[in-house]
Amino acid sequence: MAQNDIERPEGTAEDWTIPQDWAAYTPQEHALWDKLFARQAQMLPDRAVAEFMNGLDVLRMTRPGIPDFDELSERLMKLTGWQVVAVPGLVPDRLFFDHLANRRFVAGRFLRTPDQIDYLSEPDIFHDVFGHVPLLANPAFADYMQAYGQGGLRADSLGAIDRLARLYWYTVEFGMIRQDDNLKLYGAGIVSSHGESIYALDDPSPNRLGFDLKRLMRTRYRIDDYQQSYFVIDRFEDLLRQTVETDFAPLYAELDGLPDLDTDTILPTDRVYTRGTQAYAKTKKE
Ligand code: PHE
Ligand code: FE
Repeated sequence: MAQNDIERPEGTAEDWTIPQDWAAYTPQEHALWDKLFARQAQMLPDRAVAEFMNGLDVLRMTRPGIPDFDELSERLMKLTGWQVVAVPGLVPDRLFFDHLANRRFVAGRFLRTPDQIDYLSEPDIFHDVFGHVPLLANPAFADYMQAYGQGGLRADSLGAIDRLARLYWYTVEFGMIRQDDNLKLYGAGIVSSHGESIYALDDPSPNRLGFDLKRLMRTRYRIDDYQQSYFVIDRFEDLLRQTVETDFAPLYAELDGLPDLDTDTILPTDRVYTRGTQAYAKTKKE
């Protein structure tokens, strides 16, 4: 996502973009992408939302090899007006928001190494492109991402980026959805992770709670391990409506007077789909 205490790396454009340089990927890198892809594509059809699987399909991401951003952008442009552009790594918040507000998704172009198949601390092209791009083909989600960028620029001027970042975290990165009475995955951080795609749905440890905008913006999150709580929306159209139609300025002001919530808290007002045992998180504490 974004970070602020960094300088624009040499060789990047004013907006921090760089050419993807698709021709520079090695056969080994394409093969590693295919391996990561096959592992997720095999498991996700009955776990991820239909819109995600459909995105892989209509964007032709099911073809072998690392996707070419120009081709992806061409298809996306026709469907929802989005583009995928390469950046060297994390970019400053305002720039990140500005790209989103202009329907440009910034993606890392580097691929993890074979020993990082299961975990890496910085988003690579597999996370950014496999995880995030398919849903940009969905009109409601595409609009949500743009609105989020606009909301980010506003949150920045209101000093509320940390609050808004939680919304991104618990929707775009780790969101779940209810479809035909089942919970399904849509967050990029989940669907691009083999382990978390299983844990998020099947493990008794995490809480699975109904989406509640204000509550979610009070909730801390874990950046170093599987989540302790997931928030569940009903439809992308709902998420879009609730966030676009709400003026966040009074909400930010109200939240300043309320304490943060821990990653595993359940409130009496929560709609509880699963009350997690938190057994997984407990094993990590010892
Ligand atoms: N409605 C929000 C605001 O007033 C903007 C926003 C829209 C934020 C969609 C996130 C997602 O700031
Ligand atoms: Fe991400």
